[in-house]
Amino acid sequence: MVPMARALPGEIQPGKCAPGRPGHTLSAVELSPIIAPSILASDFSRLGEEVRAIEGAADWVHVDVMDNHFVPNLTLGLPVVQSLRKATAIPFDVHLMITDPQRWAPAYAEAGAYNVTFHAEACDDPVALAKTLRAAGSKAGLAIDRDTPVEPYLELLPYLDTILIMTIKAGFGGQAFMPEMLDKVRDVRRRAKVNNLEIRIEVDGGIAADTIEQAAEAGADAFVAGTAVYGAADPAEAIRKLRGLAARAMGVA
Ligand code: DX5
Ligand code: ZN
Repeated sequence: MVPMARALPGEIQPGKCAPGRPGHTLSAVELSPIIAPSILASDFSRLGEEVRAIEGAADWVHVDVMDNHFVPNLTLGLPVVQSLRKATAIPFDVHLMITDPQRWAPAYAEAGAYNVTFHAEACDDPVALAKTLRAAGSKAGLAIDRDTPVEPYLELLPYLDTILIMTIKAGFGGQAFMPEMLDKVRDVRRRAKVNNLEIRIEVDGGIAADTIEQAAEAGADAFVAGTAVYGAADPAEAIRKLRGLAARAMGVA
């Protein structure tokens, strides 16, 4: 039997109507924003505590897996994700910046990740891997790096639960946000609307109080933030502020 993908508490299922709006089917853009702090900017010697510090405020925890091959940086892998999974109930949003995701990605789904995102540049059959991930119990995400056009991947959207548009070059936290990447977000949002697709459009890189609104206006509805959350004196408060800004820009505040 193929296991069902885990549903996020409070998540609206495809085709369900908005409460109090009979006959109105929600599109992804009408969902409330997802804020996904990236633990890349946290203190790796205290990962469990750092994740617990955002409980009750964060929607997802963004986990950046880098292999020193697909990107020059090296972070963490499956054993750390397996240990951390036991430390919190917050859904994991695993961002695999690795070569050969076909080989490694399913184990992250089996480890309990809510969403597993792999890079388009590293995968020659994204649809097959997305199907494998869904069968392994997670959502399936496709990431598009800075130098990759999104057009060739628009026809794959029905097979995906999330699409992650990099707003920097993948590999390091703390880089400056690139507004020109938002054209890709607009292209995806347009296609998702036309085809009435349930897909989260996630942005990653340089998302902070001074950039999140333009990303939301372009059509993003899931926001990764490393430095802006873990570099703040009060990470939970920083998340709430980001959510407020995004929700207003999305018109769902
Ligand atoms: C970088 C990672 C990002 C990173 C973002 O390749 O994918 O998730 O943590 O960091 P900030 O929010 O600091 O740009
Ligand atoms: Zn990331």
